[in-house]
Amino acid sequence: MNADGRTRLNQTSEWTALAKHREELGDVQLRELFAADSGRGSGYTLRVGDLYVDYSKHLVTDDTLRLLRELAAATDVFGLRDAMFRGERINTTEDRAVLHTALRAPRDAVVEVDGENVVPRVHAVLDKMTEFADRVRSGEWTGHTGKRIRNIVNIGIGGSDLGPAMAYEVLRAYTDRSMTFRFVSNVDGSDLHEAVRDLDPAQTLFIVASKTFTTIETVTNATSARGWLLEALGDDAAVAKHFVALSTNAEKVAAFGIDTANMFEFWDWVGGRYSYDSAIGLSLMIAIGPDRFREMLDGFRIVDEHFRTAPAEANVPLLLGLLGIWYGNFHDAQSHAVLPYSHYLSKFTAYLQQLDMESNGKYVGRDGREVEWQTGPVVWGTPGTNGQHAYYQLIHQGTKLIPADFIGFARPVAELSDELKAQHDLLMANFFAQTQALAFGKTPDEVRAEGVPEELVPHKTFRGNHPTTTILAPELTPSVLGQLVALYEHKVFVQGAVWNIDSFDQWGVELGKVLAKRVEPALTEGAEVEGLDASTKALVAAYRELRGR
Ligand code: F6P
Repeated sequence: MNADGRTRLNQTSEWTALAKHREELGDVQLRELFAADSGRGSGYTLRVGDLYVDYSKHLVTDDTLRLLRELAAATDVFGLRDAMFRGERINTTEDRAVLHTALRAPRDAVVEVDGENVVPRVHAVLDKMTEFADRVRSGEWTGHTGKRIRNIVNIGIGGSDLGPAMAYEVLRAYTDRSMTFRFVSNVDGSDLHEAVRDLDPAQTLFIVASKTFTTIETVTNATSARGWLLEALGDDAAVAKHFVALSTNAEKVAAFGIDTANMFEFWDWVGGRYSYDSAIGLSLMIAIGPDRFREMLDGFRIVDEHFRTAPAEANVPLLLGLLGIWYGNFHDAQSHAVLPYSHYLSKFTAYLQQLDMESNGKYVGRDGREVEWQTGPVVWGTPGTNGQHAYYQLIHQGTKLIPADFIGFARPVAELSDELKAQHDLLMANFFAQTQALAFGKTPDEVRAEGVPEELVPHKTFRGNHPTTTILAPELTPSVLGQLVALYEHKVFVQGAVWNIDSFDQWGVELGKVLAKRVEPALTEGAEVEGLDASTKALVAAYRELRGR
């Protein structure tokens, strides 16, 4: 029994029933499942918003799905979901509400935190962002010398970088092509160097994005960016026209030297990895314009409403979360691939890595006890078809079970030439071919029938039975991006709820930060630093020698 009165997850009857069911299914084959049910291909599908979600190529039966839903009911996933939407402090280790859903609530909605409706504040910031974005886009907001702003450099890391950087890339076809957008995150000086080396400081606006405004990488890069700007413009007053901040921490923003009139606020109930639809999205809003940004928020809201109201059998985030649990906890899968068939989604999986792995990479439960079950998977992947010519070999014929999401679009973006649009069918032919090959493989007899010599038959055989979800949308629009992101946000939520972990803290990143601060003087000054282990000591000595110190 847990401190919170819950039976330990792996001792519940629902868990045990799933384990037994898994044994009974044995190595059930997708070929068999499809042969037994001619309606499976269209029956095992759901829709949410513009997304058509096919889960037929999963190693599940109706019974599996029912048992998984029973596990969700036993762990009160929907109860926790409702508490989240109500603004309760479900992030218990930080004693915070979790209300990224309020960031896309309509103007007339009421979402209360400690008795205060936060929706008017959300819309006040959105309005302020809109006004600012319009001024920058129209050229009304000028730099210190009166020149128009042409370059936007977002400086942030983690959630203050990955979201806007990903979404900018995804929605490139909707961006103002006369402007340049760069995203600097790495404390490696080369990141900032490459981002600004060809830019005119008089036409460059830095957006310093940091929820806490204490993050060493961001503060360091922002300080260097200010140095770069002032060296060129030679007047401290220039900062006011070339720096704005996105933060929850007005005090630190002011201490850095940015006028808080140029600060766009968000709140402690928005987690960093859930924040790019808050003020953190300012660079994106400047790129695509406020109307498109709001379309994206509408997309988020479609999936929020679906997650909040759809019954368990039709609830897509619930389904995706439970499928992940089926593989992670009952098939020992260690990783999950997300494979988008759109070049614009090249940063999507990297974004999901933080969303998923920072949320659910935990071995301690909400009750403070170590879990006795697997939690978050390793999330990885890059756009098809590139991956096909690199690592798909291992997915097809390796020894690991890797469930994968395939994300594709029916239409190419409107901007492409007719010739390039014509390539879209080839791209999508690969998309459909891969999930077919992964699911059904190729039997030795099929290989032999092609006249393959016997000694090569095992090599050319595909066992298949690799599970995939296919997510198909009509076109990559701002709304569809919002829908996709909200889908994964809620999927991660479902898994954290079942595993009984706090998906909204990230204490695991703290130790490295503290140690880096401690080690730095050893590198720069050769200081005798207490508490360095023997290996690190030797490495520091080698570093100093190589560095010529
Ligand atoms: O160290 C991890 C983290 O706190 C992330 O959760 C967060 O997105 C990132 O650092 C950046 O934090 P901030 O926005 O406060 O600079």
